[in-house]
Amino acid sequence: MVSKEIEDYAISHTSKEDPLIQELLEVANQKLEHTDMISGRLVGRLLAFLVELSGADRILEVGTFVGYSALTMAKVMPKEGVLFSCEYNEHYEAIARHFFEKSEYSSKIHLVMGKALETIPAIPGNFDFIFLDADKINYPRYYDLLLPRLNKDGLMVVDNTLWGGEVIDPQSEKSQVIASLNKTIKEDESVEQLLLPVRDGLTLIKKK
Ligand SMILES: C[S@@+](CC[C@H](N)C(=O)[O-])C[C@H]1O[C@@H](n2cnc3c(N)ncnc32)[C@H](O)[C@@H]1O
Repeated sequence: MVSKEIEDYAISHTSKEDPLIQELLEVANQKLEHTDMISGRLVGRLLAFLVELSGADRILEVGTFVGYSALTMAKVMPKEGVLFSCEYNEHYEAIARHFFEKSEYSSKIHLVMGKALETIPAIPGNFDFIFLDADKINYPRYYDLLLPRLNKDGLMVVDNTLWGGEVIDPQSEKSQVIASLNKTIKEDESVEQLLLPVRDGLTLIKKK
């Protein structure tokens, strides 16, 4: 959304990930192709700020990949906090589990394997914080399924809501789905929303 120079400058003036997450990034870069799925330092730091400032102690993440954002949020959660992270790819699961177990906060993280639309209903309770970062085609379904499970004053954060800028003139199926969700959120009187042009677009949704 901004020039590469500005993005690089912003990243270089943002706190670095801790050593374990830096190791995770190295392993992911060596072993995997699609490491651009990792939300990255700007989104990661923003998630950490929001989780820490809000004191969220029940978090749901949809889309673990190798665990970058899960580890980032788990680190700043209260000791007794619990983070459920949904993933369906077993190859990514192996890397994520390895790093979760190596971390000091493994007891907070519960990896939930399977298609998220099928596994989420079995996860008990409501959430203070939800990070939506999986299959874009199903974003509207996740929104409908999860908004009722977000606590009052809770936050839902949805990644990729600008979809490379395509939402301005949506032609592909994914961009149409995301643009339609953005409209739904805008018109939803039960929430306040803020669409930040950070990285690929990040929408913060607060339940009134
Ligand atoms: C963008 S990546 C998540 C990145 C991660 N949140 C981070 O910032 O490091 C999306 C992940 O969602 C997973 N995924 C996609 N569709 C899914 C589904 N229906 N159920 C569970 N996981 C899914 C993919 O396998 C992928 O690992």
